[in-house]
Amino acid sequence: MKDMIQVSRVACQEKGAYAIFQYIENIMVEKTTMFYIKAHVCNLEKALQGHQASVTYQGGIMETEALSLIDADRYPVHLPESTAYLTLIQQCRHDIKTYGACRLPGFTTPDATRRMAMETDRVVHEAYPCRDTHNVYMEKDNDAFSEDHPRRRGQTSELDVIAYDQIDPGDGLYILYQWDDLLHFIAVVLEHASYYRMADPLAALTVNVMHEGQNHGWHFDEAEVTTTLMIRKPEEGGVFEYVHNLRTDDRNEYDQVNRALNDKHPDIQALEVEPGTLLIFSGYYSMHRVTPVKGHVTRYVATLCYKDQPNVYNSPEVQKLFYGRTA
Ligand SMILES: [Fe+2]
Repeated sequence: MKDMIQVSRVACQEKGAYAIFQYIENIMVEKTTMFYIKAHVCNLEKALQGHQASVTYQGGIMETEALSLIDADRYPVHLPESTAYLTLIQQCRHDIKTYGACRLPGFTTPDATRRMAMETDRVVHEAYPCRDTHNVYMEKDNDAFSEDHPRRRGQTSELDVIAYDQIDPGDGLYILYQWDDLLHFIAVVLEHASYYRMADPLAALTVNVMHEGQNHGWHFDEAEVTTTLMIRKPEEGGVFEYVHNLRTDDRNEYDQVNRALNDKHPDIQALEVEPGTLLIFSGYYSMHRVTPVKGHVTRYVATLCYKDQPNVYNSPEVQKLFYGRTA
């Protein structure tokens, strides 16, 4: 007979790990095989008396499932005490500081990436067709500036967007987003003492869908840093291009922006991003675009939104623009 432990509500509450507690309450744990709920989150090692165990559960999202989606040997985001974790953090910080972008190729396994593509296929017909003309600062036209000013130069974007509430809680992407270890890993990379999943029921987790001919025009992001996961790459085109550091906190480099808009900037870089790559990108400071997709393979890129404040929502206007509705 298998040796079972009832995971204790008290053990979790003592550490204040209510989020984790929500999905481990009353789970029966076997001592026999691997189990990965971390001690630093809710002190479960004590509850499990140091034994490794597997979990049977009804419904909830478990760390074991999230771990199975990634190449955990290469990216040990679940082992914050390890040397490999610290090395990875340092590499990511260096890349973001130096290049404005940190790429983690093969972050999700080929099987998990294929699974996410198929799960996206299932709902892609529900994606909202977002069509917008904006300047690079994501503003509407402002005739207070001269016609050749970057604030007057319109960019068109045409893509379809799958909103968070259209992604099934059983889907790989959803599980990855809900995984606290990933949230904590990115927080450590970005040196945020507190970090939260976005509260917006539409924008927190999205998939940008680009069919043949669709693109995302030059722009800066509103968020300082954006985390994306490439799920499916098109046959051709759909290239992520950027120019690092085209604005600072107190200065806009309008001449440099104009050079980039004229395709004359020497520092326009194309970033090679393969399916399964997690990208942490400083999109507030770096102007970027996605070139038009060519061919019949649809491009899927997920955006995982994290914030340094809790309870962050988009405005109804922004929700309407990107998702065609408010929530
Ligand atoms: Fe962007």
